[in-house]
Amino acid sequence: MAFPQTRMRRLRATAGLRGLVRETDLRASQLVLPMFVAESLDAAAEREPISTMPGVARLSLGATVAEAHEAAALGLAGVMLFGVPTVKDEEGSGAWDEEGIVQLAIRAIKQAVPELIVITDVCLCEYTDHGHCGVLDVQASPPRVENDATLALLSRTACSHARAGADMVAPSDMMDGRVGAIREELDGEGFSDTPILAYSAKFASAFYGPFREAAGSAPAFGDRRGYQMDPANGQEAVREALLDVGEGADMVMVKPALAYGDLIRAVKQATSLPVAAYNVSGEYAMVKAAAAAGYIDERAAVLEILTSLRRAGADTIVSYHAKDAATWLADQT
Ligand code: PBG
Repeated sequence: MAFPQTRMRRLRATAGLRGLVRETDLRASQLVLPMFVAESLDAAAEREPISTMPGVARLSLGATVAEAHEAAALGLAGVMLFGVPTVKDEEGSGAWDEEGIVQLAIRAIKQAVPELIVITDVCLCEYTDHGHCGVLDVQASPPRVENDATLALLSRTACSHARAGADMVAPSDMMDGRVGAIREELDGEGFSDTPILAYSAKFASAFYGPFREAAGSAPAFGDRRGYQMDPANGQEAVREALLDVGEGADMVMVKPALAYGDLIRAVKQATSLPVAAYNVSGEYAMVKAAAAAGYIDERAAVLEILTSLRRAGADTIVSYHAKDAATWLADQT
């Protein structure tokens, strides 16, 4: 028999054949767009560019609604909201303020574009004056984020989002027991149908740098390694996800995404839940910088990255590339 008998190239010969055997699809309806809503911006259409994230801006309420319309028109699944408040305090009380910037944004979006899914990030770091994701035990030296005291504040925050009309709440703080605490509070307040997307495997990553500039949420001292995960640990990521499932998480997330494809797969296999991957700010910034320098083809690189996250096992991808990707996917057909 002539060698080679098996020719893998047979099924790669034409676009039609490649399409026939393609294992993974990427659709706009799998993508979620993160948005930064800034309390300090009040002009109707005001946008304040974020220098480390070209193409992304902090938005006024009016601009947020415009962006939500755009996201819906492009067929995106939804948006993920982050608040940038004008006032911060020790506890992060702006996070659960019924008239806080995120709560206002949720109401405005749900009124204008009801079909668009609004997911809210539930965390305190954008609202605390020290930039940590929970309340501090200042007696400890160095001060330590208190786990159990933080749970009540996160639960209050999640309920205020649900009350404003959020379709889903996504705790990103990495306190132990927060999914269970939030579930209990939501149920008690009449929001038993509000799903929780848990940032289950969230790593202490260098790739959040641009986000912290955008949201003004860099820790004032120390780092987040006392609560976010060690990038060296994979089995622990699966354990984190399983714990969140046990506490009632409806979806789980792996974050960042690009260097964590193994864990997207492992978490998907272990939980059988819908899994989200968060393609974070630093991952976005790298692509934008390389594309601006002419080193890579942005469109091809972005679609390849997003497809690879789907292949790894992500059902949903949170990405700052979402609008561009949806535009490109639409004109591919
Ligand atoms: C809040 C939060 C962060 C991100 C999402 N939620 C920052 C952090 O943990 O420091 C990062 C998202 C990104 O980099 O795009 N805790």
